[in-house]
Amino acid sequence: MRLTGKLVTAVSSAFAAAWLVLSLSPAPAAAAAAAASAASAASATSPAVSYVNTLIEQRADPHIVKHTDGWYYFTGTVPEFDRIVLRRAQSIQALGEAAETTIWRRKASGVGSGQVWAPELHFIDGKWYIYVALGVANEWRIRAFVLEGTGDNPLTATWVEKGLIRTNWDTFSLDASTFVANGTRYLVWAQQEPSRPDENSSLMLAPLENPWTIRGPAVAISRPELAWERIGYKINEGPYVIQRGGRIFLTYSASATDHNYCMGLLTASASADLMDPASWTKSPTPVFASNAATNQWGPGHNSFTVSEDGLSDVMVYHDRGYRDIVGDPLNDPNRRTRVQKLYWRANGTPDFGIPVPDGNTPVRLRSRADAARYVRFRGGTALADTQFRIVSPGLAGGSTISLESTSSPGVFLRRVVGGSAVEFEEGGKLDSAAARASASFNRVPGLGDGEGLSLEASDGAGQYLRLDAAGSLTVSAVEGGAQEDEATFYLE
Ligand SMILES: *[C@@H]1O[C@H](CO)[C@@H](O)[C@H](O)[C@H]1NC(C)=O
Ligand SMILES: *[C@@H]1O[C@H](CO)[C@@H](O)[C@H](O)[C@H]1NC(C)=O
Repeated sequence: MRLTGKLVTAVSSAFAAAWLVLSLSPAPAAAAAAAASAASAASATSPAVSYVNTLIEQRADPHIVKHTDGWYYFTGTVPEFDRIVLRRAQSIQALGEAAETTIWRRKASGVGSGQVWAPELHFIDGKWYIYVALGVANEWRIRAFVLEGTGDNPLTATWVEKGLIRTNWDTFSLDASTFVANGTRYLVWAQQEPSRPDENSSLMLAPLENPWTIRGPAVAISRPELAWERIGYKINEGPYVIQRGGRIFLTYSASATDHNYCMGLLTASASADLMDPASWTKSPTPVFASNAATNQWGPGHNSFTVSEDGLSDVMVYHDRGYRDIVGDPLNDPNRRTRVQKLYWRANGTPDFGIPVPDGNTPVRLRSRADAARYVRFRGGTALADTQFRIVSPGLAGGSTISLESTSSPGVFLRRVVGGSAVEFEEGGKLDSAAARASASFNRVPGLGDGEGLSLEASDGAGQYLRLDAAGSLTVSAVEGGAQEDEATFYLE
């Protein structure tokens, strides 16, 4: 990643957040964020994203790519399992309303006459490729297949079939994805191993000779061996790679596609031999799973893209808005496409948090006084305890805003009436005008830095939300530069 420009700042009109605008060559947001962090620890390293979930109803296994032409492209599984669709738009949010083009349809017989699952769109050496799992009518015979598209725009490209991908065995195979590490392009996919007949699929890896041919033999880098990978079915599937800081993070999905579906994580050093299964370390617990509080169920089959400003990584996944399904989960059409920011811990590992509630994506409020401190829900340490939805207008109406907890939706940050202490209260209990005002703020340019923001109590002029050096959160009067910094936040 080359950082060619100097830092320029701009103020968002939507919410006076600090936005770092970097002039840089195309690079993953992860690398950009790392550079931004090194360049200026005092400013937002990776600003908040702003999307509204659900992004797309009834589209599972979602894949969004931002191409060099500036467009975002979307593909995903349709509930009829009978075709490959593509959309494009100038922003992630606009994919939700974008027209859909069918570029391939189920055939009358043979390969491609059955299920059509989990297409992914990749641009490789000047051409478009779609990896997709295709079945045969009336048989349980799913295999990974490749289409090649010629033309700048994949929605109007000329598509030709390159056929099935030949792997070690002619067994159940699906969810092929591709990535480049250390100059080598790899294919990673899910496949049933003949030596493990009681398991549905392992994750397989092989270098690619060309986009439709592996250089075999492939190796299994993960198997459904842990309890949470074996609920309903024994599955590892839906692999996708994101790279940052010399490490390769490979997410995948496990168990049956009901509310037990969840995401796991494999990690390897970019300087390791990726074809050695011992180079990969599996997270012992799921990294992303159902959440009863946010009412999100069976999240998984994710991919990653980058925000419009190129500064934040965005995770794309599907889930359902209810827990219990009648019949085979595959016959339930309501897996839907969601997007949310992917955060990075100080140690360089990804923090997926929880599937956020429906509606506007949440933000974190980072203190200007101490870059390691965030406004927290009841002192919680999980990422979701530092995420809040900005509700606008706030509970007091007008131009106020309120902060709704992400880990406990429906609970709002408020000042104790008549005091400076802060507490969290259920919205339903804020049943008087005074109570609602205690949970409402006027947002103003940051007192310590106009590129950040400060939150002034709607019921107390001159009193601001403050996160002091000891970590205590109050709504109180502000005197002097140090306190101004304590009352200034950057949205991440
Ligand atoms: C998993 O394997 C079992 C046993 O072979 C099979 O009945 C089932 O359909 C498979 N499920 C999936 C989702 O592949
Ligand atoms: C990375 O690529 C270089 C150049 O091809 C090669 O010499 C080196 O062995 C590779 N490293 C790994 C870990 O594969």
